[in-house]
Amino acid sequence: MSVTVRVPAKVNVQLAVGAARPYGFHDLANIFLAVGLYDEVTVTPADALRVTCEGPDADQVPLDTSNLAARAALALAERRGFEPNVHIHIAKDIPVAGGMAGGSADGAGALLACNTLWQTGASRAELLSICAELGSDVPFSLVGGAALGTGRGEKLRTLDVGGTFHWVFAMAGRGLSTPAVFREFDRLGEGTDIPEPVASQEIVEALAKGDADALAASVSNDLQPAALSLFPELADTLAAGRAAGALAAVVSGSGPTTAFLARDKESAAKVAQALETSGTCQKVRAASSPAPGATVL
Ligand code: C5P
Repeated sequence: MSVTVRVPAKVNVQLAVGAARPYGFHDLANIFLAVGLYDEVTVTPADALRVTCEGPDADQVPLDTSNLAARAALALAERRGFEPNVHIHIAKDIPVAGGMAGGSADGAGALLACNTLWQTGASRAELLSICAELGSDVPFSLVGGAALGTGRGEKLRTLDVGGTFHWVFAMAGRGLSTPAVFREFDRLGEGTDIPEPVASQEIVEALAKGDADALAASVSNDLQPAALSLFPELADTLAAGRAAGALAAVVSGSGPTTAFLARDKESAAKVAQALETSGTCQKVRAASSPAPGATVL
């Protein structure tokens, strides 16, 4: 018997970053929006814990216990006193180290899949608390839709989304490490007064109305200067998408994937085509929001 769970990628329509805290994280006001690009995580009983991965970027995915999917299985098994004897297979479509929570998606997916396979009866609250232990973005991967994340990003408040948003994502030829981008954020901000992160009411309202123009006018990412500093060519990708008519162009999370908001499906197709021929990125994908969270298939 196997269980398969489908989990979405995310884009941050707001990523407000506060000063570094002594415990090594930053306070965030983080508005997540799930997008219709998915990984599928399948778990099957096995003699021992094992992870395999398929997909174009599969060679970049660690198959040891540094993989969040393996850590999720271990965390749930440990709480229940089980042996985590399961084969986890990841069919990967979300870019690796791309700023779209691909690793977090696999963590949330494996947790829900193992919980279903093992019939542990864990509550939603317990699953969310395990997600928060696994990583800042993992709870959102479980929940999907749209949410405001505070604390280090893991405390979620669900937000209403009143329409469909059309996105184009440009994937880069290499990844960026999230801790490295946060370190660069700290370096660039040294000696300056970094304000407390505050959720944007404009963005919350734009999501609720399904208003792409209003969302485009307010989209923001405080990590973007740091990502551009480490990966300056991303400026060319952002410019190419803007020139093709994107309403907004922004680095997704800690990057290096860049996200382009389009007015409608036709405009998204135009932006995607322009980016594909621009020579400024490796791969282009169109996807819409919102998308549901981790779902047992
Ligand atoms: O929580 P997660 O493991 O995804 O975080 C990865 C890294 O991103 C952390 O080790 C930290 O360097 C950085 N981070 C941060 N502040 C946050 C979230 C993540 O500095 N709120």
